[in-house]
Amino acid sequence: MIELFKTNQEVIEAGDKYLYPNHVRMPISMERGEGCWVFDKDGNKYLDYVGGIAVNGLGHCHPRIQQCLRERAETILHCSNYFYNEPAVQTAKLIVENSCFEKVLFANSGAEANEGQIKLARKYAKDHGHPERYVVITMKKSFHGRTLATCTATGQYGVHRYFEPLPDGFRYAEFNNLDSVKMLMDEYVCAILTEPVQGEGGVNPATPEFLKGLRDLCDEKGILLMFDEVQVGSGRTGKLFAHQNYGVEPDTCSMAKALGSGVPIAAVCARGDAARTLTPGTHGSTFAGGPLACALAMTTLDVMLNEGVIDNCAKVGEYFRKRAHEVIEKNHPDAVKEIRGLGLINGIQLTKESGKPVVDLCFEDNKVLINCTAGNVLRFIPPLVTTEEEVDIVINAVDAAMTKLGW
Ligand SMILES: Cc1ncc(COP(=O)(O)O)c(C=O)c1O
Repeated sequence: MIELFKTNQEVIEAGDKYLYPNHVRMPISMERGEGCWVFDKDGNKYLDYVGGIAVNGLGHCHPRIQQCLRERAETILHCSNYFYNEPAVQTAKLIVENSCFEKVLFANSGAEANEGQIKLARKYAKDHGHPERYVVITMKKSFHGRTLATCTATGQYGVHRYFEPLPDGFRYAEFNNLDSVKMLMDEYVCAILTEPVQGEGGVNPATPEFLKGLRDLCDEKGILLMFDEVQVGSGRTGKLFAHQNYGVEPDTCSMAKALGSGVPIAAVCARGDAARTLTPGTHGSTFAGGPLACALAMTTLDVMLNEGVIDNCAKVGEYFRKRAHEVIEKNHPDAVKEIRGLGLINGIQLTKESGKPVVDLCFEDNKVLINCTAGNVLRFIPPLVTTEEEVDIVINAVDAAMTKLGW
């Protein structure tokens, strides 16, 4: 029998000894969760506005997810893609019926789904008589994953560094600058890939003109428009897909994060000829679309779409931005550059170099968990079931932290 650790400290010490040091962790060992709240091994309670980096969409221990897991334990967990399984079909049906897409291809992570999009774009070009096309234009400050192709697709030097030589075939345009995309366009380009709202890059929503301009450009050139909605899809922006806020339909779109309520699952959604490009033998994955992950995705989407979660996102998100403007901007005008977001992905960009002191004080003084991205953007990506009362707790904690810092 394994003798379990008894305290936070024991877990942290053993973790530092045995876990590979590629992540910087806060000094908490998460033991359990309830809704937007989590508890550590010593019984401390925290308000979780990190939400597993936008994964815990329904919050922790949602009763429908618990029920789904119990049912799965008594039926089947895995069967391979040699066979059909109903949860995969039902999940794909729900996505198709609530979007512009016709087909869904499952994967296991955001990076893997984006790899699927990149492969799809290259084959699409070949299928359409353009074997010379292989370049994907992506955006500066984007984030598309950590595999070699997706870290290269990512428009950030910090993500490329140490891994050269990088795969060929990626060019980086300025986000929200259509002219800069047009300048990179030539006969070798097969697709444009962008997040409708950049997450890791600092919570930067695209302008409607930019996304519409990209759509027109792709139509004119006969190339694919691909969106990465790994972070902002699955309801977070107050619609199932972020691009539905813009009325712009991509040819393909990835999703992951909140889709499986904590169990890894991702998807590439496609329409038109892009929905027929990856034929048998061209792409696949052993675990992708398995009954366990898909049963959780089916349940997650059902609750999101039919039990008011996506609507809650739009409403509470608006309240968040209103309170942030009222309290943070009013009390700390010199410390805040901009407050921005869509639904429940929100960022407070500071005029200071780093947001880490605020993150640390929220944790230490008020047991509120937030994080910081792109150096100085406080990012708020809570479970989509969060309430206005919880928003108040978070805003007050950020306000108190900035006051203590003398900002
Ligand atoms: C927009 C976006 N794309 C891709 C990824 C990579 O997803 P994963 O970590 O599941 O591979 C992320 C992760 O943060 C992301 O935010």
